[in-house]
Amino acid sequence: MKTFTIEHNLEMNKSSIKKSYLEYCMMNCLGKQKSYLFRERAYKLKKNEQEKFNGMVRALKSSIPVAYVLGNQPFFNYTFEVNSNVLIPRPETEIMISHILDCGDKIYKRTGNMTILDLGAGSGCIGLTIAAERKNWNVILTEKFYSCADIIKQNMFALKVNNCHFIIMDWLRGLRENLADIIVSNPPYIEYESILVDDNVKNFEPNTALFADEKGLSDIKKIIESSQETLKENGYLFLENGYDQSDDVVNLLREHDYRDIQVFMDYNKIHRFTCSRKI
Ligand SMILES: C[S@@+](CC[C@H](N)C(=O)[O-])C[C@H]1O[C@@H](n2cnc3c(N)ncnc32)[C@H](O)[C@@H]1O
Repeated sequence: MKTFTIEHNLEMNKSSIKKSYLEYCMMNCLGKQKSYLFRERAYKLKKNEQEKFNGMVRALKSSIPVAYVLGNQPFFNYTFEVNSNVLIPRPETEIMISHILDCGDKIYKRTGNMTILDLGAGSGCIGLTIAAERKNWNVILTEKFYSCADIIKQNMFALKVNNCHFIIMDWLRGLRENLADIIVSNPPYIEYESILVDDNVKNFEPNTALFADEKGLSDIKKIIESSQETLKENGYLFLENGYDQSDDVVNLLREHDYRDIQVFMDYNKIHRFTCSRKI
């Protein structure tokens, strides 16, 4: 197999693939930082490095998302391993983490305890980030699909968190009443017929993480209903929702007697999250 220099590899693919993606792949293949790519542009790849890089370029050319090609995605202060069994963590979900940490700090200061549930953990990015940021809190991650289990366990190990548990289950079914101070979920919320989903999201990310019935609201509804039992009195429910679902989610929360409903925006000023209190 013919091998090339870093410069040649980056140049010859730049018309079809984003420059930053090529650089990430090169860094991954060489196990080096970005500065190395600029300093050592004349470095000729070894055979195994070239082979790996070629494979990544082929994957990117067939539209596989770069996070799956690299096998990881940064989220908050951490890097999460991902594969095609789990949703790629999104930057907007990080916004919810900061609100949860603030809310949880107040509860913890008052009570000296914190149990938080992350429903539909996927890669574990929400629950494990919280567990890593607050080592005194008790975090329970739940997920319906066994296919996510390996990634969650690997991320748990990589983040060196031992204040969390992982359970395979269908939303809150089977959990005892009055368990959680905070419940958080980024559930599937896209309606099946939506034409606004990018092809590479629809084709490569797990559909079970994306789509829900009832115009995308069926899982949100189930979580709102059953969280009433699992939350402690004055516990908080944090939910992420679709770009046009905020009013529906607020109405559902009102119907189910949640109070102090707050809506937070994402980076695009879309009403993306709610926080509400169980009375
Ligand atoms: C939008 S993804 C969110 C993943 C991750 N929490 C994140 O923010 O990147 C929704 C997750 O919910 C899981 N899920 C779907 N239906 C579920 C159910 N009935 N019970 C528990 N988890 C479910 C999916 O497998 C997926 O991992």
